[in-house]
Amino acid sequence: MTVQIKTTEEIEKMRLAGRLAAEVLEMIAPFVLPGVTTDELNQRCHEYIVNEQQAIPAPLNYHGFPKSICTSVNHVVCHGIPNNKPLKEGDIVNIDITVIKNGYHGDTSQMFGVGEVSEKAKRIMRISHECLFKGIELVKPGTRLGDIGFAIQHHAETLKCTVVREYCGHGIGIGFHEQPQVLHYGKRGSGMPLEKGMTFTIEPMINVGKRHVKLLDDDWTVITKDRTLTAQWEHTILVTDDGVEVLTKRSDENF
Ligand code: MF3
Ligand code: CO
Ligand code: CO
Repeated sequence: MTVQIKTTEEIEKMRLAGRLAAEVLEMIAPFVLPGVTTDELNQRCHEYIVNEQQAIPAPLNYHGFPKSICTSVNHVVCHGIPNNKPLKEGDIVNIDITVIKNGYHGDTSQMFGVGEVSEKAKRIMRISHECLFKGIELVKPGTRLGDIGFAIQHHAETLKCTVVREYCGHGIGIGFHEQPQVLHYGKRGSGMPLEKGMTFTIEPMINVGKRHVKLLDDDWTVITKDRTLTAQWEHTILVTDDGVEVLTKRSDENF
């Protein structure tokens, strides 16, 4: 399948799906505290999406994924499965929310510090957030995917961090994962030029240690091979006439 350009009607649906996904993160934020289990966070998000939003949690049963959200703690890079282990003071956790509303997907994730966290943890959360924004600020018609990947990789590596290569951002719409693949590393001037009406995610996974990852036996949980800390932030974005619209913007964010 090639890269789709969304129609005005589709863009309206993407705006709604994106807003709902962002609102789940806003809803769950005050519950991310020492002692809460990621199962409890999953349950709260599930009920909110299904009952309040009348939407569908996209991860549930996606290629067999067993829960409604992903929760990735400390050295877990992505696709962490909520479980009954309580979060503890000093943990960092990525909560990744994808909802389907009226057939369209909105996908966004955010890092949370659990109680007081170390300076090292704050630093990797900050750098991965900066990487996301280095990517977003380049988005406009004519920018190439490689420009985005380069900017993210350059920022991370300048600060002696590394970029996970095995997972990437993606086109999004009726499909959870559509074309194109949005790599978080690359060469300036390479790759496909962006066009107005494309919708895709940027979701850099940035490690403190080496870039290499390992898939656990549950076939979902991805960890850093060297068990060092990792962090990720994700937005779903739309390419507009002259720039970008962040479809999963939260009210605490200003663009
Ligand atoms: N939300 C993830 C992404 O950003 C995908 C999760 S797939 C799942 O693309 F099955 F693990 F939920
Ligand atoms: Co995504
Ligand atoms: Co996601």
